[in-house]
Amino acid sequence: MKKILVIGQDGMLGGELYERLSNNKEYDVYKTTIETLDICNKQDVINEVKKINPYYIINCAAYTNVDGCETNFDLANSVNGIALENIAEATNLVDATLIQISTDYVFDGKLDISEEYTEDMPANPVSAYGKTKYLGEQNAMKANKYYILRTAWLYGLRGKNFVKTMLKLSETKDEISVVNDQHGSPTSTTSLCEIIEQILEKEPKYGIYHSTNEGFTVWSDFTKKIFEFANVSTKVIPITSKQYKEMYPNSSDRPANSKLLKNKLHSVGIYPKNWEDALKEYLKEELK
Ligand SMILES: NC(=O)c1ccc[n+]([C@@H]2O[C@H](COP(=O)([O-])OP(=O)(O)OC[C@H]3O[C@@H](n4cnc5c(N)ncnc54)[C@H](OP(=O)(O)O)[C@@H]3O)[C@@H](O)[C@H]2O)c1
Repeated sequence: MKKILVIGQDGMLGGELYERLSNNKEYDVYKTTIETLDICNKQDVINEVKKINPYYIINCAAYTNVDGCETNFDLANSVNGIALENIAEATNLVDATLIQISTDYVFDGKLDISEEYTEDMPANPVSAYGKTKYLGEQNAMKANKYYILRTAWLYGLRGKNFVKTMLKLSETKDEISVVNDQHGSPTSTTSLCEIIEQILEKEPKYGIYHSTNEGFTVWSDFTKKIFEFANVSTKVIPITSKQYKEMYPNSSDRPANSKLLKNKLHSVGIYPKNWEDALKEYLKEELK
């Protein structure tokens, strides 16, 4: 039985992943939460990893408030960036394989909208969050054996996320303004768990893999789909990023194009669901 350590089990992805892997008889699954392990404490990380001696270490812990990263850069950088050096070192000490979850926000989004980012295109984050996660990628690569899975626009049953926010707002608003010029792939935690499970099974070549649901949209059309599937009548007013920034001057800049090409994932036999199908599945559970 392969031992797996899920770091960040108290998070939206970590909680679902831990539960799914625990139900798989092939794995002996361990967890840490922010209460039991601060990933910024190197010695604690090393002690915990040595104690468990896992085959895989999956890091789902992160500082994920994108706007908050702008004002709390040092903390965000410690958690998303520097801490990965601790985890990579601990990974090597027990000869484990590290799986680090990263983001589409490592790119600047300036790529022509007709094109998609491949794994080997140069990163150039524009936001504080993107910068900290990119440092995390560079540190994760210090592990001798690693997978970096870049995901995007993540939502799931266990955490605060865009879908829940829109549904909540729709309870009190007749119309909602949503950005229409940032392109990407909404991704359910369930779909990302399925990708991770296949990575664990197939053990493809180490490296970076773009790991989102299939297909692309913009936030305003994503919202329209959420409302359509949830039978909500609130109107979506598409606005530009510039208009949004005028309304919320302290908000972080986000890439206009964060379309991630998944050919590399396909080449190892992993085919994620379309984002609309994943959303429909999620809403079936969320609205029960
Ligand atoms: N959410 C998205 O839209 C999105 C998009 C792209 C990529 N990602 C990436 O996907 C992964 C999972 O995201 P998620 O949305 O599931 O995150 P999440 O729900 O915010 O969970 C992250 C967890 O990490 C914990 N944490 C924070 N600082 C820590 C520390 N020093 N030591 C240990 N744990 C710590 C958090 O605890 P507290 O809550 O108590 O701080 C939280 O429980 C992350 O790597 C994230 O960067 C997310």
